[in-house]
Amino acid sequence: MRRLSLILLTIVCVFLAAIAPVRSQRPRDVEQRVNALLAQMTLEEKLGQLQQLDGEGNGNFRPEHLELIRKGLLGSTLNVRGAQRTNQVQRVAMNESRLKIPVLFGFDVIHGYRTIFPIPLAEASSWDPLLAERSAAVAAQEANNVGLRWTFAPMVDIARDPRWGRITEGAGEDPFLGAAFARARVRGFQGVDYSAPDKVLACAKHYVAYGAAEGGRDYNTTDLSENTLREIYFPPFKAAVDAGVGTLMSAFNAINGVPASANAFTLTKVLRDEWKFDGFVVSDYTSVKELINHGVAANEEEAAALALNAGVEMEMVSRSYNTFGPRLLQQNKLTMARIDEAVRRVLRIKFRLGLFDQPYTDEAREPNALLRPESIRLAREIAGRSMVLLKNDREALPLSKSVGSIAVIGSLADDRRAPLGWWAGDGKEENTVTPLAGIKAKVSAQTKVGYAKGCDVKDDSTAGFDEAVNLAKQSDLAILFVGETADMVGEAASRSTLDLPGRQMELVQAIHAVGKPTVVVLVNGRPLSVGWIANNVPAILESWMGGSESGNAIADILFGDVNPSAKLPVTFPRSVGQVPMYYNYMNTGRPPEAENRYTSKYFDMPWTPLFPFGHGLSYTKFKITNLQLSAPRIDANGKLTVSVDVENVGARAGDEVVQLYIRDPVATMTRPVKELKGFQRVSLQPGQKRRVEFVLDREHLGFWNREMRYVVEPGEFRVMVGSSSADVIDARFEVAG
Ligand code: NOJ
Repeated sequence: MRRLSLILLTIVCVFLAAIAPVRSQRPRDVEQRVNALLAQMTLEEKLGQLQQLDGEGNGNFRPEHLELIRKGLLGSTLNVRGAQRTNQVQRVAMNESRLKIPVLFGFDVIHGYRTIFPIPLAEASSWDPLLAERSAAVAAQEANNVGLRWTFAPMVDIARDPRWGRITEGAGEDPFLGAAFARARVRGFQGVDYSAPDKVLACAKHYVAYGAAEGGRDYNTTDLSENTLREIYFPPFKAAVDAGVGTLMSAFNAINGVPASANAFTLTKVLRDEWKFDGFVVSDYTSVKELINHGVAANEEEAAALALNAGVEMEMVSRSYNTFGPRLLQQNKLTMARIDEAVRRVLRIKFRLGLFDQPYTDEAREPNALLRPESIRLAREIAGRSMVLLKNDREALPLSKSVGSIAVIGSLADDRRAPLGWWAGDGKEENTVTPLAGIKAKVSAQTKVGYAKGCDVKDDSTAGFDEAVNLAKQSDLAILFVGETADMVGEAASRSTLDLPGRQMELVQAIHAVGKPTVVVLVNGRPLSVGWIANNVPAILESWMGGSESGNAIADILFGDVNPSAKLPVTFPRSVGQVPMYYNYMNTGRPPEAENRYTSKYFDMPWTPLFPFGHGLSYTKFKITNLQLSAPRIDANGKLTVSVDVENVGARAGDEVVQLYIRDPVATMTRPVKELKGFQRVSLQPGQKRRVEFVLDREHLGFWNREMRYVVEPGEFRVMVGSSSADVIDARFEVAG
């Protein structure tokens, strides 16, 4: 008996040791070590910890970095990477600086480091946060092995304007879906303990409302009510904080007249006082100095005081804190308490990261860490689950692998850069599978695959049209690849139109006129207005920018090895003139009516989108029926179970993403016509039926009222369940007063 207890005790101890955070990270130990270190620091050393500087390009550090580190004047770098190089820099900090405070190496690892996964907007189309968690975990593992300990991701900005190029980096237009992906990505990068050797510290960005840039013009100002901030733009950040994200990045834009990098309301009142965030905030690139251009600071000295006092701890690239910190302190425009608090937050994260105990990266691991076969397999799987079948009339897809001949047309079919998208880490073109290569690898040995460019994405020449048309004439079918190049999306890549660039639409029309079965595959990083294609071409696959394995994943879908199951995380407008256009809009006093001129619509275009939020087809068919509620009435703090039957009524196995929306039709404030409050992916064999359940409670039913209190108001609610925001069945229930 005693022996058994001893064995049990040993097992429990081993288990506890395995799950316990390493010693350096126990909260009390961390705080003690931070305070002990802080007590020894000079003012210059303290300010040094608040400085981050950029590398030289290609992952190199600058000679100046070493000098500064030696003197204790640089806390972090961005873009410096490679195990050998980061170790070289770190040795200076650990061996030659007075206090031996390790350097924190950051980089934009957004959707992969070397193995590149689909752009985040595409991953969000999977409506499967677990996939994003898995891809972020691979990205973290690769990044950590090249000496990086911090990624400037996830980007969790809600984006309702596809002109904004950075819509590509986020999870789309919806706060509920966005929050789910924010949580998942933080978990993927950081794990349960970001000091682990295959994890990195995450950074939720860009705090906040950067995606609301007026006119979709990058860096532009925003003007938003506090309700909109709290209900639309904050939730993914709150979710990231709740998931334990260690850092946030303050955005470039101004919010209601106050730049995000000097905004005490968002950075201190909300982030620290309400959400209890105890990590640190880094500015975006020179956004502290840019306070001068915003017109809230006359010079860098004022900029430093504004940003640091508002809650930006670390300054990226500009050097206002270091240059003017001492003078500001002398003049009482900064207090030592605020500086200490900022340094404490930075050091706390460095201790939690285990940097003091493990400052170096094992250089031997780097070569085997990148592009592992299992990482590449995962990239292909995720890409296949991220591509949205927008249209498939008369089962034009999937195609037969033994078709006689195929015309592959469009420069994007053979473009290795486009699938990597914006922020492709250290992804390499030579590791990218193009659509053309993917198709060739997929079809039978007898199938002839011809390729003609037709035209480039951007330029104006139609010289290649004849060749493309002839190829289509000689082939059994045509697959056209059209869309955007990688540099047309991402930062500073706002567009004033959502049309296909260059002569691509004419190319589609010319090929369509040949009369052969035609499929269009879109390669792009934002919603495009492709009405002509939607009206004329029977099959459209939205492949986004699908990462290293994009070409294979496209072929998997086109030829039926993968049954598409993704859904749009963002609305596709018919025309840029409809923008901003999103599914969770507020009703007006005059909702659109076809026959009534004096209603809210454009007179020259339908008021509906080209493809609605949540839309996406499958090679099989699903039926959602029998919507039931656990009660007709609940109280404001109660729970309601909503259930439906989902049945695969087609001939293939497939996944349906069942979506739940609510509406509060009468409230003290205008409420959206629909709000996503639940989604579930269900895998079903042909003929199989399953009951799917959702639980709604206070968290889903309330809103921020005029007094800025979160309330669930009594009265009737509508609940809608379906396969997209525009295809639902509904029921009603009541919240008791
Ligand atoms: C500016 C971008 O806005 C931000 O997203 C990025 O993390 C930094 N540059 C660092 O590269």
